[in-house]
Amino acid sequence: MKIATFSTCKYDRVFLEKYNTGHELVFFEEALSLQNVVLTKGFDALCLFVNDRADEAVITLLEQNGIRLILLRCAGFNNIDLAAASEAGIKVLRVPAYSPEAVAEHAMAMILTLNRKTHKAYNRVREGNFSLEGLMGFNLHGCKVALIGTGNIGKAFYKILKGFGCDVMASDPFPDQSLVDDGLVYGNLETAIGDADIVSLHCPLSDDNHHMINSTTLKLFKPGAMLINTSRGGLIATQDVIEALKNGQLGYLGLDVYEQESQLFFHNLSEDVIQDDLISRLISFPNVLITSHQGFFTAEALEQIATTTFENADAFKSGLNLENEVSI
Ligand code: NAI
Repeated sequence: MKIATFSTCKYDRVFLEKYNTGHELVFFEEALSLQNVVLTKGFDALCLFVNDRADEAVITLLEQNGIRLILLRCAGFNNIDLAAASEAGIKVLRVPAYSPEAVAEHAMAMILTLNRKTHKAYNRVREGNFSLEGLMGFNLHGCKVALIGTGNIGKAFYKILKGFGCDVMASDPFPDQSLVDDGLVYGNLETAIGDADIVSLHCPLSDDNHHMINSTTLKLFKPGAMLINTSRGGLIATQDVIEALKNGQLGYLGLDVYEQESQLFFHNLSEDVIQDDLISRLISFPNVLITSHQGFFTAEALEQIATTTFENADAFKSGLNLENEVSI
């Protein structure tokens, strides 16, 4: 098949070329949007990532251009209008799990950095400043953690948290029996976050949970609690979180994802004036850590993404059962 690959970085190309099972790949660095959908003419399939937009208008044009398949190089599919894709007869396949441990480990890295301030210590010591003032953290052992979503990543994170001796409570509309058997207690969102020192989001973004962390739910947080989001930016109402950081309701914030990330993340904007005032404000807080959607970014995950993407392409080409299809 002839596959147009969007949002391609150098590392994507390395792994996709290595594991290609014989398809013709054309790489575009830019993210798919209404402005550049014309590029898809003459292709059979698209290979997309988290910040490519395939909304209804884009899907209509994809159908006209003869696209029959969208191969997502990710698990989340909130950037694709599935109803429009189905209407257009375009199949959408994803990589349901690619090293959930990678994202879970990154969530823990964010917690440890925010808590023990190793980033500040690193810079201080390099400048000959060996003072401990302002570096005090808290023990994770015995700390209460709320896991929102216990799918592949939440489950991997639960194991890590248990290893640290944390007291974990979870919220998920579909509790995992193996975790219940392992001692995990489930409650609703309010109960889980109300008692937690750390709240970590691991659920997909949907119409139902858009801005689930907002001015109302933030009031339920323990004053000074930590919020970690490695899932999707739209789960958090950014302006409300900024207010909660300013008034101290939120003590720490770790974001690997951001509502408006498509304009920023994966690009080197170090020579530009950032036009997004919300992210600029967030960066200015001493107790906020932002990474640019790198939770998945390990060699193991990139290998898994590439192999599953081509298994999906081959299954479609051969008319086999599409086990990684996402549909409404
Ligand atoms: P999964 O599909 O295995 O699990 C998601 C879980 O969330 C399910 O158990 C589901 O029942 C639960 N859930 C759904 N709505 C919920 C709600 N409102 N409240 C609580 N739980 C809810 O997904 P997986 O693999 O664990 O990934 C989770 C999310 O992580 C993905 O949807 C994606 O947005 C994000 N992600 C981020 C990456 C990164 O690099 N930062 C990489 C991969 C995924």
